[in-house]
Amino acid sequence: MIKEKFNLTGKIAIITGASKGIGEAMARGIAEFGATVIVSSRKQAAVDAVAEQFQSEGLSAFGIECHVGNAEHREILVKKVMEKYGRIDILINNAGTNPYFGPIHEMPENLYQKTMDVNINSAMSLSNLVYPIMKAQGGGSIIHISSIEGFHATKLMAAYNISKTALIMLGKNQAIEWGRHNIRVNTICPGYVRTKLSEALLSNEEVVKKFEANCALGRYSTPDEMAGLAVFLASDASSYMTGSTLVNDGGLLHAPLF
Ligand SMILES: NC(=O)c1ccc[n+]([C@@H]2O[C@H](COP(=O)([O-])OP(=O)(O)OC[C@H]3O[C@@H](n4cnc5c(N)ncnc54)[C@H](OP(=O)(O)O)[C@@H]3O)[C@@H](O)[C@H]2O)c1
Repeated sequence: MIKEKFNLTGKIAIITGASKGIGEAMARGIAEFGATVIVSSRKQAAVDAVAEQFQSEGLSAFGIECHVGNAEHREILVKKVMEKYGRIDILINNAGTNPYFGPIHEMPENLYQKTMDVNINSAMSLSNLVYPIMKAQGGGSIIHISSIEGFHATKLMAAYNISKTALIMLGKNQAIEWGRHNIRVNTICPGYVRTKLSEALLSNEEVVKKFEANCALGRYSTPDEMAGLAVFLASDASSYMTGSTLVNDGGLLHAPLF
């Protein structure tokens, strides 16, 4: 049955940056389809709260703290999941940051580095940690959360744009290198989703005006509108998809020029 391909029962999924926003919504969706989700973010209390909420709804979840920019945290995350569950089927590299709004020539080196460490370098390192595990298991699904900002330049957000473009290419390279081990790697590019991260942008009147004029659906997305795609990519329903970059943006990238 095709429907059965969406079933994630018995799968173990790690979702970074899952204490709120898009990560939390994807974790919920994946858990609702039967997987055990490892809810991860920088704060143990925050991930425990989400995991407990999920558990109270009959879902299978466990919280593990991990600052994705910290190599030791990444190793501990994967080690703890292996000790507790013995396998990792799904990794969603979702944690992201955008600490600098300003011109490129004034960008502080440390903020550029932080953006790269959290948005791209961590995704490569975490993927490398799960690679031998997935290979030994006979496969797995890795999903990167990039952005439409990986496709087009945005004034004053250069580091974020660069990191999100790099993430798209990381996924393509991993896909061609790891496909023979049945490890699929795909990337989701959300448009504008109302979350804490987008708060600053969406409270800027000029941005909002332009957005409303250009977005085909004429509205922002809610985090849960990103979850279906994550469930699909995590599951066997997408068993022939790898190296894909999927845009979920209400038609914003297709904005007419005039
Ligand atoms: N919102 C949008 O419009 C939009 C559009 C396109 C792409 N995206 C991408 O979607 C992803 C999620 O964004 P969001 O909008 O859902 O953001 P959000 O609501 O601000 O949530 C970010 C999550 O990441 C965690 N986090 C932040 N820094 C972290 C770090 N260094 N290590 C581990 N966890 C960390 C936060 O939890 P703690 O504070 O507990 O660590 C939180 O759970 C990001 O990659 C973002 O670039 C968002």
